[in-house]
Amino acid sequence: MNAMDTQLEAKQRRRIHLIDLNDFSVDWWKSLLEKAHDIMLFPDKYAHACDGKIMGTLFYEPSTRTQMSFQTAMLRLGGTIIGFDNPQTSSVAKGENLKDTTKIVSGYADVMVMRHPVEGAVKAAALTADCPVINAGDGGHLHPTQTLTDLLTLWEEKGTLEGLTIGLCGDLKNGRTVHSLIKAMSCFKDNRFVLISTPELALPGYIKDIFSAKGIEYKEVNTLEKAIPELDVLYMTRIQQERFATKEEYLAQKGNYILTREKLLDAKKDLCILHPLPRVDEIEVAVDDDSRALYFKQAKYGMYVRMALILSIIYNEKTTMKLVKGSEYPVISCSNPRCITKQEKYLPHLFSKFGDMCTCEYCDARNLI
Ligand code: NCD
Repeated sequence: MNAMDTQLEAKQRRRIHLIDLNDFSVDWWKSLLEKAHDIMLFPDKYAHACDGKIMGTLFYEPSTRTQMSFQTAMLRLGGTIIGFDNPQTSSVAKGENLKDTTKIVSGYADVMVMRHPVEGAVKAAALTADCPVINAGDGGHLHPTQTLTDLLTLWEEKGTLEGLTIGLCGDLKNGRTVHSLIKAMSCFKDNRFVLISTPELALPGYIKDIFSAKGIEYKEVNTLEKAIPELDVLYMTRIQQERFATKEEYLAQKGNYILTREKLLDAKKDLCILHPLPRVDEIEVAVDDDSRALYFKQAKYGMYVRMALILSIIYNEKTTMKLVKGSEYPVISCSNPRCITKQEKYLPHLFSKFGDMCTCEYCDARNLI
């Protein structure tokens, strides 16, 4: 091994990627919230923290808040940005695979933020990237930086992340923000969950399993009205039209849950109404004037927590992570048709085995061996 290889090896070991918040400790999340708070109070202190650094933003899917808050975060830290928000204007349109596009950009940038419509795609990119990679949403799977945004909002507005009754309403099946938020809030003491959805859009089994594994109280209900009075937090979500197989299936779900001022009459005075946005029709505009509607504030908190995240990832402050936890099993194939391994055939088949089951390292689908 020559000196260059040894250096690269060492760099690889130090590099951290944010694919799933649960790859990191709760203490690390809290350190980001504290840093974000400090940035809000003293922005000037951080104005040159990323001078000379470059962030690549690769958005294979539409985005307003996530993309622009990341870009603004980097600009406010003194860094610059490159990237695309429409893969059709990049060589992806010529048929370039995920590995090549992301490998190349990761050689230009100091940190790469990526959103992709396929589950596990960001982890797949991180496997071969030459810089840290941040998951800005991978299909209907996870959205860890939205969860950091949600945690900061609750921390700032409620003053605690514990002992909360949290209602999640809408598309719990395809809503990646819901999956990441539940995984995170399950790590704090005495939180309870109320899942409000139709049976068709219920939470996936692998997320529900977290409740049973940790002995967390939860219930599933199908009306918003019944759930509202006991909630401390109401997390509304959009029905994820782009994840439905047919328009008819989407139309059957659209408009089933709409938060109105009237429905809030029985809500707690200090309820926090959150929404990752964009909103379609699930919160009527009149609710915006209610002091409990925090979703616009929430979007702004997202910029500060992403500033804290960029700093931590680029300067790799006191943390480590293991990108691949399982092993390669070439003969096993993931059963999830929406898994990135179905699209990018060169990817190693990575699984964590438990009993006669195994979990796909990319998309978290459970597979029978
Ligand atoms: C969410 C997303 O992209 O998952 N938006 C966001 O990042 N703030 C929610 C959604 O699209 O419904």
